[in-house]
Amino acid sequence: MPVVEFIEDVAVDAELDRQLRQLLSTCFTKPEDIVFRDRRYFHLSPRWRWLVRGDGGELIAHVAVHDKVIGTIAGDVRIAGVAEVCVHPQHRGQGLVREVLATAHVWLAARDIPVALLFGDKKHYASSGYRNITNPLRCQNPETKEWSVKPSDWIMMKPLRVFDWPAGVIDLCGSGF
Ligand SMILES: CC(C)(COP(=O)(O)OP(=O)(O)OC[C@H]1O[C@@H](n2cnc3c(N)ncnc32)[C@H](O)[C@@H]1OP(=O)(O)O)[C@@H](O)C(=O)NCCC(=O)NCCS
Repeated sequence: MPVVEFIEDVAVDAELDRQLRQLLSTCFTKPEDIVFRDRRYFHLSPRWRWLVRGDGGELIAHVAVHDKVIGTIAGDVRIAGVAEVCVHPQHRGQGLVREVLATAHVWLAARDIPVALLFGDKKHYASSGYRNITNPLRCQNPETKEWSVKPSDWIMMKPLRVFDWPAGVIDLCGSGF
C-alpha cells in the first residue's frame, strides 16, 4: 500500500513547488499545459493536495482539491473540486489514482463535504465511484471571461455521504477547475 501524504497548498515550500511543477509538466503535455512549468495549478490554486512519493522521495502521484461552493436549485452546496490528477508515466497502471482518491475521499467526508466533482474521463474514475452528470453547467471561460450554460460530457460526481444530487443548472460560480 502506498503512503499517501496530505498537504495544504499554503504549506508548499520552494522544493515541493519545484517537484510539483516537474510532475505536472511531465504528466500534462498539451500545448496549454506549458503553464505548469511556471506554476503548480492550471486555472486556480487548489486548497489541498494529496501526494505519493517513490523510493527515492520523488513525487509519483498527485491529486489537487479545490474547496468550492456551487449554486444549485436546492441551494448552495460545498463541493470538493478534484483537479490535476496525475501519475508519473513509470508508475501508471498500479491503482495509484484509486488509492490517492480513496484517501482524499475519507478526509473530505470527515469534514462533512458532501460531494466531489471532477472533469475527467469515466474510464479513469468510474472505479473510484464517480458518475457522469447531465446538469447544465453555468461557468465562466477564464480567458474570455464569458459565461455559458451548457451540459458537459466530462463532469463527474461522487457523493461522499448520502446526498440527493439536484436536477437543474449547476452554477460553478466561476471557471472550471
Ligand atoms: C490518468 C492517469 C492519472 C491514470 O493513472 P494510472 O496510474 O494508470 O491510474 P490507475 O492505475 O489508478 O487506474 C485508474 C483507472 O483508470 C484506468 N486507466 C488508466 N489508464 C487507462 C487507459 N490508458 N485506458 C483505459 N483505462 C485506463 C484503469 O484501468 C483504472 O480503472 P479500473 O479501476 O476500472 O481498472 C495517468 O495516465 C496520467 O497521469 N495521465 C496524464 C494526466 C491526465 O490526463 N490526468 C487526468 C486528468 S482528468
